[in-house]
Amino acid sequence: MDWGLKNRLARIIKPYDNRGVMLAVDHGYFLGPTERLEEPKKTISPLLPHADSLMLTRGVLRTSVDAGYPIPVVLRVSGGSSIIGKDLSNEKITTSIKDAIKLNVSALAMSIFVGAPYEHESLVSLGKLVNEGEEYGIPVLAVTAVGKELEKRDARYLSLACRIAAEFGAHLVKTYYCDNFEKVVRSCPVPVIIAGGPKLATELDALKLTFDAIQAGAAGVDMGRNIWQSDHPVPMIKAVKAIVHQNATVKEAQDVFNRLKSIEKTAKPVIKSKTKS
Ligand code: 5RP
Repeated sequence: MDWGLKNRLARIIKPYDNRGVMLAVDHGYFLGPTERLEEPKKTISPLLPHADSLMLTRGVLRTSVDAGYPIPVVLRVSGGSSIIGKDLSNEKITTSIKDAIKLNVSALAMSIFVGAPYEHESLVSLGKLVNEGEEYGIPVLAVTAVGKELEKRDARYLSLACRIAAEFGAHLVKTYYCDNFEKVVRSCPVPVIIAGGPKLATELDALKLTFDAIQAGAAGVDMGRNIWQSDHPVPMIKAVKAIVHQNATVKEAQDVFNRLKSIEKTAKPVIKSKTKS
């Protein structure tokens, strides 16, 4: 692997434990103003110090993230369909490698739609993006999208999609957690990270999901809604991070969450007293 590509990948999957916490905030590219991501800057800013990397589109990067903040960026470069359109799988590459380089990104990300009407186009796009990424030393994250068909989330389908992504040269694969997740990880020769998916009923459920995925061999998370749709996003990302980087148990992570949540509640705003001078 080229030095530059290896160096960029190391910003995302930390070499000291081969794991990473990626904060996903790219949802608007097909969902529009997703709940609690209506004003991206407000959602992203408090979470930035706690994420290893940030996954988003160039539009939100340019408008809502301070260029002076040293967070590695995973740039979503695919799109072209919306949640109200005909077919979510009809995506193409929408951002040039030149723009990605100008934005100093650490990785490129695109969705593949295995088994969907535009399977062929998305896989060919992945191959082309890996060609370009390899040329400039930029790794590619393949997102194994399941579109609206969430029932596709089983080990048989997800291991097929992840393996195909790796065969096409993806350096990192994002997928969903499922029963027998070990099979997905075992048969994919590059690191696998998990999306959180739609917000689960409780934070504890999302922590369990994270723990189970890590236990089964995931290299980390690329999590969005289960962090920033929580009423306590900072305690939540810190609890997730404790599982990913400190091998915390679900109970330990829940303690982290509850402790930080209670500190948040008791922290009183500082009111400056008006003293006569
Ligand atoms: C959408 C994506 C999202 O980044 C991904 O699904 C992660 O976010 P969440 O944890 O909210 O599912 O790639 O296609």
